[in-house]
Parts: sequence; C-alpha cells; structure tokens
Amino acid sequence: EETKSWKKLISIAVSGAAGMISNHLLFKIASGEVFGPNQPVALKLLGSERSIQALEGVAMELEDSLFPLLREVSIGINPYEVFQDAEWALLIGAKPRGPGMERADLLDINGQIFAEQGKALNASASPNVKVIVVGNPCNTNALICMKNAPNIPAKNFHALTRLDENRAKCQLALKAGVFYDQVSNMTIWGNHSTTQVPDFLNARIKGLPVKEVIKDHKWLEEEFTEKVQKRGGVLIKKWGRSSAASTAVSIVDAIRSLITPTPEGDWFSSGVYTNGNPYGIVEDIVFSMPCRSKGDGDYELVKDSEAELLAEKRCVAHLTGEGIGFCDLPEDTMLPGEM
Ligand code: LMR
Repeated sequence: EETKSWKKLISIAVSGAAGMISNHLLFKIASGEVFGPNQPVALKLLGSERSIQALEGVAMELEDSLFPLLREVSIGINPYEVFQDAEWALLIGAKPRGPGMERADLLDINGQIFAEQGKALNASASPNVKVIVVGNPCNTNALICMKNAPNIPAKNFHALTRLDENRAKCQLALKAGVFYDQVSNMTIWGNHSTTQVPDFLNARIKGLPVKEVIKDHKWLEEEFTEKVQKRGGVLIKKWGRSSAASTAVSIVDAIRSLITPTPEGDWFSSGVYTNGNPYGIVEDIVFSMPCRSKGDGDYELVKDSEAELLAEKRCVAHLTGEGIGFCDLPEDTMLPGEM
C-alpha cells in the first residue's frame, strides 16, 4: 500500500452548516476534493438555535461516511467557540432572498450576523484565517465582517463572485459552442448583484478575445451581461429557493483558486478589499476584481492595461491640468499579454 505523507490538520469553520449550500459543500471538503488527498481536515460547523437538530443530523451523516481525511466534526451555535483556531471560515449562514427580493433587501437582517461573526473571528480564529463570505449581500457583509476583525488582514476577506464567473463562462461557452474549459480570463467587476459587470472584453475563448470568436456582438452587449446579472434571481423563481449546488461548487472553485497556483496568463474573480487597487476603484469597499494566486492562500490583483493607464494618468496629472501628479506605478507593471 502506498504510504501517504499527511499534511498538518487544518480547521475549516462553516456557518449555515445545516443549510442547503453546506449540505453540498461539506461532503466535498470531507472527501478531499477541495484541499487535496493528503490534507486531513477538521470541520467546525456553526448553526443557530433553530437549526441545531438538523446540524446534529449533518454531523451524523458526515461521520457515517467514513471519510479518511475527516478527523473531527464539531458543531455549535456560539461563533466564538466554533471559530476557534479556524484557518478557513466559509460564511454561508444568512437569511436567503426569496422571489421578488433584491440581495440588498437583506442588508439589515444579515449585516448583524456578519458583525458578530467578524468579532468572533477576530477573537478566536487563526490570525491569518481566510474568510469567504457567501451570505448576501455578500460584498457588504464581507466589509462588515472585516471591519469587525481588525486583527485579521483585510486582504483575507473575500465575497464570493465565483458563482457569477462560472455563470458567465457557461454562457460564453454555450454561445460559442465550445466546452467550458476553453473560456478563460473572466472578470466579474463589482458587486454580487444585478449591477455587476461580467467583462467579456478581456475574457478569452480558446485564448482569443471573445469578440473574435462570438461574432454576435449585439448578444454580447445586450443579452449576455443581463443573463449573468439576473441568473440568481431567475433560478430563485424556478426553484422557489436560491441556488445551492452550483454555489457550493463555486465555493470549492474559489478555495482551490487560492491554494493552487493560477495558470499562466489566466486569473479568477473575487470580491476583495479595494485599498491599494490599481484600477482607480474607490477605496474601502469590497469589489470583485481579477486576482492571481501563487497557491499559498493569498492573492494579488492582476495589473492590467487599464490599471496601467490610470496610474500613468495620475502620474501626469500636472500636465493634463488635473492637479498635482503623483507616481505610484509599480515597477513590475505587467500587461495580460506578457504573463
Ligand atoms: C445566487 O446568485 O444565486 C445567490 O447569491 C442567491 C441569490 O440571492 O441570488
């Protein structure tokens, strides 16, 4: 029998653990599909008083599955206890929107949850915990969570826009008649809401600009964007509840993108803190942007051509009559074509 060298056990906290998304996600994590076949995991499941029975049921099913990598399952309703030493926090638990609601309608109700969980992460989790916020409105919830966790680097907080990225790739692949894996460089800009911008101008199909492959530019400009923006809402109308399986898959994708090196020339989208961003996007919000990772759990923002031009413009502001120029051009400014 092959001898495995096990990595050190890692703790993964999941809120909303008795919910539909988690029911898809937890079994993927426990099977090794997410963190790899040599990575033992401890699952720390956070529920609410109302869901505690269901949470016990989830833990029973996880245990009965005899996953070799699953070394610990614990459940609780106190985030300060459940988040203890967590290296990943997947914050799914929140009231989901129903038919006819926008995600922003959940601001008040869910914002409270994320303030409390931010405080709990700050107090209990590993100081370098990576946090992925899924509960809506996820960008603002991630910001609330981050602001309540000042000891954790702001960079470690993500709002999940990978589902939007996947939806966008799917639509482009279907339209172009190619397999999904041929679509790359898909940026989702902004909010996980109907104002998001799925960027077909910088996306590629078989390595070519989308507009060279999809000649129906009217479709791209008029239908594609709206399809991606409204996909979540359309699904809620059909199912009577929000997406769960595809959301779980996109959480897996988001984690894997952070723990494996990003393929040469490609990138992935994540809602991250805007401070210091090279795109001229206002600071101090959580905004989906293109990211690359070395596979160490961290990421850096892709420095694209637009970012370079914006930085150059700031640099020459004294020549364009827009005030005092300042240069913050990074030395390693890279164009996507050069990666
Ligand atoms: C989704 O995009 O499917 C989720 O964010 C749920 C929702 O409210 O749309």
